[in-house]
Amino acid sequence: DETKTGVKGLVDAGVTKVPRIFINENDHKQFGPTSDGISIVPIIDFNGINDAATRAQIVNKVKEASERYGIFQIINHELPLSIMDEMIEGVRRFNEQDTEVKKQYYTRDPTKKFQYNSNFNIYTLVAAAWKDNFLARLIPNPPDSQELPDVCRDIMFDYAKHVTKVGNTVYELLSEAMGLKPSHLKEIGCVETVSIVGNYYPACPQPELALGAISHVDYGLLTILLQDKTGGLQVLCQDDQWVDVPVVSGGLIINVGDFIQLITNDKFKSVRHRALVKKESTRISVATFLSPLQTDNIRMYGPIKELITEDEPAIYKDTTFQDFLTFYFTQTVDGTAKLPHFK
Ligand code: SIN
Ligand code: FE2
Repeated sequence: DETKTGVKGLVDAGVTKVPRIFINENDHKQFGPTSDGISIVPIIDFNGINDAATRAQIVNKVKEASERYGIFQIINHELPLSIMDEMIEGVRRFNEQDTEVKKQYYTRDPTKKFQYNSNFNIYTLVAAAWKDNFLARLIPNPPDSQELPDVCRDIMFDYAKHVTKVGNTVYELLSEAMGLKPSHLKEIGCVETVSIVGNYYPACPQPELALGAISHVDYGLLTILLQDKTGGLQVLCQDDQWVDVPVVSGGLIINVGDFIQLITNDKFKSVRHRALVKKESTRISVATFLSPLQTDNIRMYGPIKELITEDEPAIYKDTTFQDFLTFYFTQTVDGTAKLPHFK
């Protein structure tokens, strides 16, 4: 029963030492020099995106960023600031509400449209992360109202609507950046599902010993990440330096997942990242995942044929999205890259 109150429950109970299960001997040693985050994670302004010349520049920036590290931040996108702020507050309200109410949503049943717990993948992780989280599967087949918590239901539906627009736009830009027609990625099903994960990272008594998110690469297509003003997200760049992703007001972080790397035949890279925790402040982030139906076992995906040449033959084998996910989740989550094995 104790696990149902999450990491926040530990903090509320007054722990002063990070329990052993959270300590990851291999990962938190390199609290890097935090060099120039903006040059690693460029800020791309969507203002003027419908003007042909401006759009061409935006596409170019998206292309460069996706080829280099697979991460960038966007500003002046389709998500109003007020909705971003309210979404963060919704995650806060959910996690800070009465424990008895919160516990009713605790589940590890993947068929549930709303799952609250602490570390979705707790049984396969090398160490637990200092976070509580929820997952809401919103599109397609949105949950009934009563399946979502009162304290954040309205904002989740609202947020999903707007963030889907952002996702569509980014998929258009990525398609254009590959020299394809804007609707290419949408047509192959990349926006069929929208799921939202709310992350709540309580203030940690020993932040040097724990991580909010263990070093990983997102397996999917696009992640659209909203973070509060606390900061803590880092990306691994060349020469194994962890670099802080700057907190940008109104910014959404876009990160490319392994499946995009697969279908682009390594043109666009997926980025390794992690999140630190803070001693004094709780941090909140909201990750939106857009992808094909997880049950799609018919449509075949592989390196996009327009990107394949004699000099650059297909690196990865064709797969259904369902098989790709099965492959991913039967590997142990030990922080090693898996995509290279999918050849
Ligand atoms: C994650 O990538 O798992 C979360 C990142 C964040 O909270 O900044
Ligand atoms: Fe991630």
